[in-house]
Amino acid sequence: MQKLKWWQTAVFYQIYPRSFADGNGDGIGDFQGITAKLDYLADLGVNAIWLSPHFPSPNWDCGYDISDYYGVAPEYGTLGDFETFLREAHARKLRVILDLVLNHTSEEHPWFLESKSSRDNPKSDWYVWADTPPNNWQSCFDGDAWTYVPERGQYYYHYFMKQQPDLNWNNPAVKQAMWDVVRFWLDLGVDGFRLDAIGTIYEDPALTPHTVPMNLAELRRFSETAKTPEEIELKNKYWHDMFCHQWDGPGLHDLMKELRTILDEYDGDRMLVGEDDNIAYMGNGGDELHMVFNFPLMRVERITPDHIRRNQKTRLSALGRLPVEGWPCNTLGNHDSSRLYTRYGDGVHDAELARLNAALVLTLRGTPFLYNGEEIGMTDLIITDPSQLRDTMASWYYEQLVNELKIAPSEAALRAGETTRDKNRTPMQWENSPNGGFSPAKAETWLPVNPNYAAGINVRDQQDAPNSMLNFYRNLLRVRKASPALIGGEYKPLHPKAGSYFAFLRQTDDQTVIVILNYSPDRHELRFRLPQKTAHLLFSSAGRSQKDEATSRISVGAFEVYLAELL
Ligand code: GLC
Repeated sequence: MQKLKWWQTAVFYQIYPRSFADGNGDGIGDFQGITAKLDYLADLGVNAIWLSPHFPSPNWDCGYDISDYYGVAPEYGTLGDFETFLREAHARKLRVILDLVLNHTSEEHPWFLESKSSRDNPKSDWYVWADTPPNNWQSCFDGDAWTYVPERGQYYYHYFMKQQPDLNWNNPAVKQAMWDVVRFWLDLGVDGFRLDAIGTIYEDPALTPHTVPMNLAELRRFSETAKTPEEIELKNKYWHDMFCHQWDGPGLHDLMKELRTILDEYDGDRMLVGEDDNIAYMGNGGDELHMVFNFPLMRVERITPDHIRRNQKTRLSALGRLPVEGWPCNTLGNHDSSRLYTRYGDGVHDAELARLNAALVLTLRGTPFLYNGEEIGMTDLIITDPSQLRDTMASWYYEQLVNELKIAPSEAALRAGETTRDKNRTPMQWENSPNGGFSPAKAETWLPVNPNYAAGINVRDQQDAPNSMLNFYRNLLRVRKASPALIGGEYKPLHPKAGSYFAFLRQTDDQTVIVILNYSPDRHELRFRLPQKTAHLLFSSAGRSQKDEATSRISVGAFEVYLAELL
């Protein structure tokens, strides 16, 4: 077997800096806090950190609107604090990748301030300008995609919020400026980047209008109320049709090749993972992005064995067709999506389903990405008080619902909170004390802490409880680390028609592991015809006492996660 790179064997853990750990007691997470928790992460058993943006930002989009690519947001600390964090992470063998936002800057970035100041300044062509809106394109966050600037008497384009103007990537000077940023952080020693919204960098040069008979707010509302299969299909079509001309424009492959060349100049196998599921962005498998996310796995209401098998078949065969075989990358949650505990729960067996889904991400072939808090079973917290909303997407939608669509404020608040992202960004719950141990009791945290910290959803309480979610993750991570087949092995599905459980092998030349995820409340007696006769228990969520079973008949309990080495 080919020797795997660090990013192929690693388990990544996403830190959302605003919500991870508050070191100075101001209610906002920071580097001091993160650094103090590195032992926790090392002990959990993850190997790499993806850090969501830590740069200075006016925070219209919670750090994804960057006003200085070379700095650290003052509320998170200083560049020195960042360097300490990086050094301490590396000392614990934790790699660190940063979030790199290429598509847009903040409207407060000096480049934009200069660009918007006149039509003939040196940076006048660094953003996308037009005399009049050339089409009906929408911003995916806040309505019209073209916003007027009186200084220039022109409109600029923004795929995201109006506070996030799109850079003009057809301008070579923009590229050079951004590649300088990339080198700056690589020189400091970061191990790679998660590329934000990579598909949105280039648009359709013909500026083709969309054909959806609604604006963004109406489409959001329509999506919430769509119930019948026809309505749901139409809603999906509308989302596609509304934005299809604003994605995947020509030029991206060359751009990714250029960026990859820069990374490859450095030692240490620096890596790129794209926030996109398009395998084409991996180029020939060796010359563009190292990985893209398997988002189709998570884009469902329910994770079912059939869905998983179909997903694996499609993804793995597409990756296998690349000239250099592509490496998969799986996740079930991040700062943009409902928390996996809430999203894939059924209201009755949420805890069991969360464990099954965690095991899924940690045993499928590919690099797993976990989102901070999922290891203790954190849940969504729907914010219904509009004054507490921090996601601009939410406050914008609330205003639209009330003012344009004439929805009652109480319902509007609920819908805005439910369908946007504050709910899955609340502070990490470290212990059962006021503010969940994230901040001191007296501090006002930037988003409310989920009160369920007091009901056992916190690190401290789970640390010593052998059956806690935290120990489930820890133990499984340990088993994964010790099992070459789970890290690098091929994937072979078993019982391809089973509707209520998902069974598969992970296999290298030297080791075969069987994984059975029973997504049902029923016990199953499963019969396998395998060359190996004994299944030696590696892990079970059911507290089994018997270590070995005959592979001809393995019984799994309700919602059990079962892993065994075949001998
Ligand atoms: C990505 C980020 C998201 C952000 C957007 C704009 O999708 O994950 O949080 O709002 O890009 O930068």
